[in-house]
Amino acid sequence: WGAQTLRQLLGPEAFRRAPVRPGHTWALPPGTVEDAPRFGWRGLMLDVARHFMPKDDVLRQLDLMAAHKLNVLHFHLTDDQGWRIEILRHPRLTEVGAWRARSKHGHRFSELWDDTPHGGYYTQDDIREIVAYAAERHITVVPEIDVPGHSQAAIAAYPELGNTDVVDTAALTVWDDWGINPNVLAPTDRTLRFYEGVLEEVLALFPSPFVHIGGDECPKDQWRASPAAQARIAELGVDGEDGLQSWFIRHFDGWLAERGRRLIGWDEILEGGLAPGAAVSSWRGYRGGVAAAEAGHDVVMCPEQQVYLDHRQAPGDDEPIPIGYVRTLEDVYRFEPVPPSLSPEAAAHVIGTQANVWTEVMQNRSRVDYQVYPRLAAFAEVAWSELPPSRERVFADFERRMESHYARLDALGVGYRPPAGPRPWQRRPGVGGRPIEGTPPVV
Ligand code: ACM
Repeated sequence: WGAQTLRQLLGPEAFRRAPVRPGHTWALPPGTVEDAPRFGWRGLMLDVARHFMPKDDVLRQLDLMAAHKLNVLHFHLTDDQGWRIEILRHPRLTEVGAWRARSKHGHRFSELWDDTPHGGYYTQDDIREIVAYAAERHITVVPEIDVPGHSQAAIAAYPELGNTDVVDTAALTVWDDWGINPNVLAPTDRTLRFYEGVLEEVLALFPSPFVHIGGDECPKDQWRASPAAQARIAELGVDGEDGLQSWFIRHFDGWLAERGRRLIGWDEILEGGLAPGAAVSSWRGYRGGVAAAEAGHDVVMCPEQQVYLDHRQAPGDDEPIPIGYVRTLEDVYRFEPVPPSLSPEAAAHVIGTQANVWTEVMQNRSRVDYQVYPRLAAFAEVAWSELPPSRERVFADFERRMESHYARLDALGVGYRPPAGPRPWQRRPGVGGRPIEGTPPVV
């Protein structure tokens, strides 16, 4: 990280991949820098399920993370709309689960579809390369395999994973829409064994102490309707469908702990009680994170209203991705991961923070660049630097420093959102040039 600071001091030329001025010498004023990160987990979550991000783009994002001194890539590898990691013992996960026939164009309330088939996945060699490239940059890659919801791509590949007594799961395809999906995993031993097999391969690829198991947004309708799921609830003696969800998560909590790893999941996993080593990604605001920290669990703060970078970054009609809340650069800069109400003991459980990049409406690298930068620079400063004693970060100082940073991002070739708003070609970079229509939802 010291080398990154040194590189920043050298000026934007130091961010190019080759010297551009022969004979140029770099001079630095003598000085001493004393610096240390505030948090051990300074993360970026990339959703490569909604839109596949080619390996080369992932490697580039790792370079950009390192330049911003971020050290955890939370890799969201599976979802209803795609399964992105090769699992040798279950080849249909990628043969079938990595591809979808079409995609919803725009946000989930849009009526438009893009009929271009979409997909892709990382081979195990790709994953090993990504993990090694990240490690060279002191970045840990935390894999996420989302269960028991967000699983339609897996069910499309292996219909027996779904609730076959209430849905014709053999007729399911990889989902082409966005939103919360009712097709969740069946609470059977067969499902558990299947995912243990998946996780065995995942553990062999990712040395990360933490493994993310998802746990978010699992509608309980199918379990309510399914005689098999109801019988399972009775057999296990758990408290209804919510108890079934906790049983699921607790199973993998114990399974991972036996293998020397720690489970992390979205804050819904708190609902049925957690084993002591498990950690929580607090996304539905701060509340889950506060409850988890007070109960002694480690927490990564990533509240959606503050650090979901798919959300629009300015009011008005110009934003190419007009979804969610307006979260300006300044809003992100003012984000504080540790709520002041936490006791010092509970605050010590906030091990870090991350910005989340959900890609429903980010079909390609330009759109990801636009949504993520420059807001990730503001986020990175929050994750690295101590909160001033006044508890107020001074945005005007940050803005002044951003003038130099935009020059670095230009040298790096990052298609960020300029302070004055999108460039003409950034306004409507949608597939096929079609505008995103409809009224933005009020979230
Ligand atoms: C989430 O945004 N569903 C974690």
